[in-house]
Amino acid sequence: MSTLLSKLLTLLLLILISGGVARAATLSISCGAVGKELSLCRQGVEAWSQRTGHHVKVVATPNSATERFALYQQILASHSSDIDILQIDVVWPGTLAPHLVDLSQYIGGDVTQQYFPALIANNTIAGKLVALPWFTNAGVLYYRKDLLKKYHAQPPATWQQLTATARRIQDAERRAGNPRMQGFVFQAKGYEGLTCDALEWIDSFGGGALVDADGTVTVDNPRAVAALQLAASWIGDIAPQGVLNYDEEESRGVFQSGNAVFMRNWPYAWALGNAADSPIRGRIGVVALPAGGPDGHQTGTLGGWQLAVSRYSQHPELAADLVRHLTAYAEQKRRAIAGSYNPAIPALYRDKEVLAAVPFFGTLYTTFEHAVARPSRIAGSKYARVSAEFYYAVHDVLSGKTEAAPALAALQSKLTRLSRGGQW
Ligand code: GLC
Repeated sequence: MSTLLSKLLTLLLLILISGGVARAATLSISCGAVGKELSLCRQGVEAWSQRTGHHVKVVATPNSATERFALYQQILASHSSDIDILQIDVVWPGTLAPHLVDLSQYIGGDVTQQYFPALIANNTIAGKLVALPWFTNAGVLYYRKDLLKKYHAQPPATWQQLTATARRIQDAERRAGNPRMQGFVFQAKGYEGLTCDALEWIDSFGGGALVDADGTVTVDNPRAVAALQLAASWIGDIAPQGVLNYDEEESRGVFQSGNAVFMRNWPYAWALGNAADSPIRGRIGVVALPAGGPDGHQTGTLGGWQLAVSRYSQHPELAADLVRHLTAYAEQKRRAIAGSYNPAIPALYRDKEVLAAVPFFGTLYTTFEHAVARPSRIAGSKYARVSAEFYYAVHDVLSGKTEAAPALAALQSKLTRLSRGGQW
């Protein structure tokens, strides 16, 4: 009898185990692949898989935020269940919300209150929490400490100073035998990255943030014109013509190979520039981006990425659990130390290990806290068009096709029409 019982128990156990295995689900997550993003995403996902027994496919997406957005729109418009978890840009919640799950049904207030409240507000659309903050960022200025020292220069406080210092060091280095030296590299390809850079120039000159808090389009003003005129003067002077086709990684390529004095980029470039195989390891300084002269102020565009669950996922609860794991304190700390991805959790900016790995998370805390937002909340689902009109216009000015004043006047009327006179 007892052997029969034990056989029965074994059988029961086997059924339970095999049932358990059969229930292992496969999720898929789309991750960015800029810098160390993809490998950090894989490692984070792997830890969750090991703990839960579920499989996860990691899908790499295009580096350009503009291309990634187009891809997501296609996938979501077809209601495809192919991607469960989407890495979404800080400017997309308003547009993608109809396709995303309300995470507050799975994730409590005790979890959400640890993030920057502004990010939770950004990710809450019509009362629905559509994404959790994964990492935040703002544009910063990288410079070569060794070159500035060699030429007795200070990190610039204004764009005018940057222009002069970049030119002086670039010319001297070229004469000294490096014909490839550039003064300044940044993102001027026609895509979302140029919207970020150009917003920084305009805001730093006191020219506003394209649209004001009431929804009125403000882009056509004399300070914005002056900002774009100065930026256009860089092309072919302190920046190569090729910058008109640079995204983040192309700028980093030039700077990290030792061929630029200054670079505008996001914080992720710090970890890579200081990696063991980097020619400029230990020679990089990071400060806030310059102000646009005495009437301007230092600023940086708010960027960053969130994790959202698709409404068409067949495993929304499980997907939300993976999102919770990836956006948790421990994982954000690991990513900050290994990849210099800014935590979206304020407490991590007081963590000694994080600050030792990325000192400017401490020194530039206010830059990150007061970063200037692109007008995505006010423009809602029209944001992608606003941004595209803006970067097309700026690209035309930089490439010398139009002058700044008429380009901004034309943009002002286009955006005013698109906004229905500021009502959106
Ligand atoms: C970075 C930012 C993101 C921005 C993009 C533009 O990835 O985090 O917010 O849209 O750059 O290229």
